[in-house]
Amino acid sequence: MNKRTFTVDICLSPTLLPLYELKGKVVVIVDILRATSVMVTAFGHGIASITPTATLDDCEYYKTLGMLTAAERDGMQAEGFDLGNSPFSYQTDFIKGKDLAMSTTNGTQAIAASLNADHIVIGAFLNIDAVRDYLLKLRKPVLIACAAWKGKPNVEDTLFAGALLQKLGEEVVWENDTCQIAHSLLESAGNDMLSLVHETSHVKRLKRLGIEKDIEFCLQENIYPLVPYLQGKKLVI
Ligand code: MLT
Repeated sequence: MNKRTFTVDICLSPTLLPLYELKGKVVVIVDILRATSVMVTAFGHGIASITPTATLDDCEYYKTLGMLTAAERDGMQAEGFDLGNSPFSYQTDFIKGKDLAMSTTNGTQAIAASLNADHIVIGAFLNIDAVRDYLLKLRKPVLIACAAWKGKPNVEDTLFAGALLQKLGEEVVWENDTCQIAHSLLESAGNDMLSLVHETSHVKRLKRLGIEKDIEFCLQENIYPLVPYLQGKKLVI
């Protein structure tokens, strides 16, 4: 490894995060369907901050402070909260300048499990080049943390990890076999990621809920050139 390159690793599920040293690293949280795609979209439409919470009770507490709240469990909006987890719900002037508290099935859990990292940033296909540029500027060791589905690795987050590896190119040194796994999955998709993702369990879940339109939106690249990062308890840009 020459002095200018830096290492990158991938954790395919938050349940494996205890095996990784997070100190000294920048962790890229990815939950393509749909938490990190929603977070990036919300910042793209003017949200002031997002406070990720692991539990619905924590999210409820922020509601008592007068904050906007969003909660999702098993793909559906949780009862008693202002918003759910579709990126289309955040493409409105209503959220401009507001502070949001958010709790999702996997994405906000992955953030909660990564708090020992030096930096936590939010990655999605929607902001992938901005994330690449952020990492190339920071030049710190990287761990891409896939939110997965209830501890089980999934295709879409692993595909993102492979795509980010490809965009980082020769600037990084792959630290573990998960990099080969993710990059091989990306190469197997060719130019047709949508077909590969359409066969996945979460897409079938979202289709059953009639929200498949979110899938195509979340697989677009570089719609929002911004990188949300954790500052204290809040995500900001
Ligand atoms: C997640 O946390 O995995 C997602 O938010 C689930 C979803 O929105 O469908």
